[in-house]
Amino acid sequence: MLIRTPPRHLPEPSEITPRTVWSQRRRIVQAAAAGIALPAPGWLSAQTTRTETRPEAKLAGKASPLSTLGANDKPTPYKDVTTYNNYYEFGLNKEEPAVAARSLKTRPWTVTVEGEVDKPRVFDIDELLKLAPMEERVYRMRCVEGWSMVVPWTGYSMSELIRRVQPNGNAKYVEFVTLNDSKQMPGLRSSVLNWPYVEGLRIDEANHPLTLLSFGLYGELLPNQNGAPVRMVVPWKYGFKSGKSIVKIRFVEKQPMTAWNRAAPQEYGFYSNVNPEVDHPRWSQATERRIGEDGFLARKRATLMFNGYADQVAGLYAGMDLKRSF
Ligand code: MTE
Repeated sequence: MLIRTPPRHLPEPSEITPRTVWSQRRRIVQAAAAGIALPAPGWLSAQTTRTETRPEAKLAGKASPLSTLGANDKPTPYKDVTTYNNYYEFGLNKEEPAVAARSLKTRPWTVTVEGEVDKPRVFDIDELLKLAPMEERVYRMRCVEGWSMVVPWTGYSMSELIRRVQPNGNAKYVEFVTLNDSKQMPGLRSSVLNWPYVEGLRIDEANHPLTLLSFGLYGELLPNQNGAPVRMVVPWKYGFKSGKSIVKIRFVEKQPMTAWNRAAPQEYGFYSNVNPEVDHPRWSQATERRIGEDGFLARKRATLMFNGYADQVAGLYAGMDLKRSF
């Protein structure tokens, strides 16, 4: 990934989620994690939906017990989540995608599922939206560049889609391919990556309940710059593993060549699990800056193994040397 100096990032006081909102949210999430009755569906959306900006885009989901936030985590303000983006198909600067992706056409849209499956299928986006019950999952996200956010996503586990297409015994990996349309995506003129943007997971990673097929955030359909109309969200891996605006999902036998791995294999391994003990060759991964919350001069926070999801995912890597398989 390119190194660039982060812009000064001091949010307006009005952009910061009010303390009453996030402290109540945290109590509810902790209760859910402890097995106490879940709140009514849509509890999170009710507090955070941006209906005043895009009423037509509402996308509700049931609060999920998989939202395991830490004591210091609170959702990153909507404004930061939607204006500080990496989406190289729409420019290399963080501010560009929010403007340049406005013209992305997200209807009609299909996702082709093919390869080593018994039931290959082309899903229309409206079919995908109804495939399984929507959930609100508040996840920590850690970018390989050293910053992080907390995002309330809406979607369902990738496993819901996987079981419907019935992978066969040769399906060891899953490849996720982003739209590759130079008429709509000015960034494709750049040779920073070999387009299309491709990411991949081992099939057990793709089937892990935390792995989310996401259609929305903050209770509304994904803004284009965040990967509309459908994207991956893999919270224990660096953000670049979470491919945006997916048009193809391919089940394959061999480990796929991914866009960043192809561009700089010594810097971006296939696994890319968040790991404070494995530095990027050009910078440390031991700490991170939480966007929108801490102020630019605030102390960085320690990065957690698997981005804090070790209890849920460490077992996927039992016996592996995570320094070699980085
Ligand atoms: N997907 C595509 N197609 N193109 C990209 O440039 N950037 C990745 C990932 N998915 C990227 C992508 C990176 S580096 C990060 S950190 C996350 O998207 C950022 O997601 P966000 O903008 O929603 O925070």
